[in-house]
Amino acid sequence: MRVLVTGGAGFIGSNLVRKLVSNPIVEKVIVVDLLTYAGHLPNLRDISKNKLKLIIGDVANGQLMDNIICDVDFVFHLAAETHVTRSIYDNYQFFHTDVMGTQSVSNCVLRQSSKRKISIPLIHLSTSEVYGTAETENMDETHPLNPCSPYAAAKAGADRLVYSYAKTYGLNSLIIRPFNQFGPYQHPEKAIPRFITSAINGELLPVHGDGLAERDWTHVLDTTNFLASLIDKNLSSYKGDVFNIGSDNSISIKKIAELVADEFSNAKINFIDERPGQVVRHTCDSSKAKKMLGWKITQSLKSSLSELVEWYRNNQDIWLPHMLVKDIELEIIPGCKIKH
Ligand SMILES: NC(=O)c1ccc[n+]([C@@H]2O[C@H](COP(=O)([O-])OP(=O)(O)OC[C@H]3O[C@@H](n4cnc5c(N)ncnc54)[C@H](O)[C@@H]3O)[C@@H](O)[C@H]2O)c1
Repeated sequence: MRVLVTGGAGFIGSNLVRKLVSNPIVEKVIVVDLLTYAGHLPNLRDISKNKLKLIIGDVANGQLMDNIICDVDFVFHLAAETHVTRSIYDNYQFFHTDVMGTQSVSNCVLRQSSKRKISIPLIHLSTSEVYGTAETENMDETHPLNPCSPYAAAKAGADRLVYSYAKTYGLNSLIIRPFNQFGPYQHPEKAIPRFITSAINGELLPVHGDGLAERDWTHVLDTTNFLASLIDKNLSSYKGDVFNIGSDNSISIKKIAELVADEFSNAKINFIDERPGQVVRHTCDSSKAKKMLGWKITQSLKSSLSELVEWYRNNQDIWLPHMLVKDIELEIIPGCKIKH
């Protein structure tokens, strides 16, 4: 099997590639990645080159994607601009990559499926951010979509685009809505690595607002085990079905900062301005994925935090180059800094 992973040099993508290459039925993993500030080749440096092919390019380039998808059997589409705060500062690239990139990938999967008379499964990585603040205790897949940031809006557009292609053209696709992820290889601009790397560097741990916003956290290795398991399943009946994946528990950002601070002798929290478009609470209901696709959690945030701190301590050469681009200069004025 030849498997395409778009965005494979990023956080979840590189963890997924690592998992896929260990499956004997996978002959080759093809990564397409534009290597933006978030894409980082050292994330893939330990992976056997026999099984990996890297193509540097833009998923929104339909010609390029056609040339790649004509020779693959399975597609994981992860490439995206992913940082909420960055989308508040300048959102052009978010709509280009997250929406138009998904349109391009979906078109090519359809075109090549029809040309080759096979059904190429497309696993689209959406996000729980499409839901906005939880209106129910735990959010299942029927929760209304109320995206609160340009990132969430772009992802909601992509999510519904894949759904519409499934309904209109029969695109063989699953839409996965992961809740927040943590684990090795995550960019230090994101909350948990930002806390850990700040503490390692002797800086204050920055928490937006009062820190009471709650999120549901999943270890990336649970997520990538689950995603990688999909290649062994018969997915032909799935046409735009949505599946949440998360721990079904939420925890405040302040509490996480405190847990990280506890891992260090003298780390301190600094409360900074609230982020506009903040989502107050996200708690997953993952019962559908548990029942239908075998989703399960093996690691909790609390039980794996010490190991994660150790990983960031031992792999500074991977994340130190990112430190120059971890801060976003936010101007909280109407429209913020929209450049395009
Ligand atoms: N990390 C999370 O907590 C989380 C939660 C839910 C959903 N997701 C979704 O999972 C996917 C992966 O997230 P991540 O955290 O690994 O993101 P990431 O920012 O770490 O990686 C994104 C990757 O996409 C690449 N990329 C960006 N624009 C591209 C383009 N135009 N063409 C090709 N490649 C491009 C980047 O270079 C990078 O390697 C995204 O779709 C994201 O929306 C992430």
